Amino acid sequence: MKLLLTAAMSVVFLAAASSPGSAAGDAVFEAKGCGACHYTDGPAKEKTIDDQLAKKGPELWYAGSKFQKAWLAEWLADPQPIRPMKFNNLTEENPGDHPKLAGDDAAAVTDFLMTLTSADVEAGKVKPKKNPKGRQIFIKKMPCSGCHQYTGRKKKISGGRSGPSLVDAGLRLNPDWILAYLQKPKVFKPVKMMPVFVGLLSDKDMKNVARHVASFKPKK
Ligand code: HEC
Ligand code: HEC
Repeated sequence: MKLLLTAAMSVVFLAAASSPGSAAGDAVFEAKGCGACHYTDGPAKEKTIDDQLAKKGPELWYAGSKFQKAWLAEWLADPQPIRPMKFNNLTEENPGDHPKLAGDDAAAVTDFLMTLTSADVEAGKVKPKKNPKGRQIFIKKMPCSGCHQYTGRKKKISGGRSGPSLVDAGLRLNPDWILAYLQKPKVFKPVKMMPVFVGLLSDKDMKNVARHVASFKPKK
């Protein structure tokens, strides 16, 4: 029994380490020139600000820790603007012209990107949940909503436009990554467009607000 289990586990491990989808996806990523705008090597703290600004799109070296797989596959096939403004730019609107991938390519690139993970994201820390404390932090105690859109009362889109929209962020982002992003700005946020909350928010309150953001889902 024990032997069987070990054998089964190593099969799962091998499959995850080198799935044909991820190798094909790596090739598509190269062929489509995605690397011209996105880093897939990390971590960010090893790059200078100039290195960061040299790419027109966000870093993807931790994509597998950041995104929900189902969201990523859909978005690559039909990308819709995430940031109201251009990336790292506060004056120009996002033109919404992100390259699109056909069905098979989108699935393969999703497999590839989901293999890019960061050891700085701890799994199982944040359970998405309506969280009154987190909500207070998001809309009142801290200026989060001044820079990020979210769905307010009566399904009204509220909030500022300088940061990525967090409308339905619970479908897009891994809850544990949201916490890591707040806790470890040096790892994930080298270009300082968002204020650092380390020292302003306790770990507990970072968890509360991460929970709240992770609970942003389409309202019924
Ligand atoms: C000309 C530059 C450019 C190219 C080429 C490009 N991207 Fe992007 N990418 C961007 C920008 C800018 C954004 C931010 C879009 C937004 O916020 O709506 C982005 C966002 C993304 C995101 C979401 C990242 C995040 O953190 O929000 C993913 C995933 C992604 N691109 C994958 C790809 C893939 C795969 C390809 C190749 C098919 C590709 N990109 C090609 C510029 C580019
Ligand atoms: C002054 C504006 C500003 C404030 C205040 C702010 N943010 Fe941000 N935030 C940003 C910007 C700018 C980015 C990301 C830059 C990028 O990747 O385009 C960001 C990124 C994020 C992301 C990652 C989104 C993604 O898709 O990559 C989350 C989650 C987030 N902020 C949550 C918060 C929370 C929670 C607060 C309050 C505690 C907050 N922000 C306060 C501007 C702000």
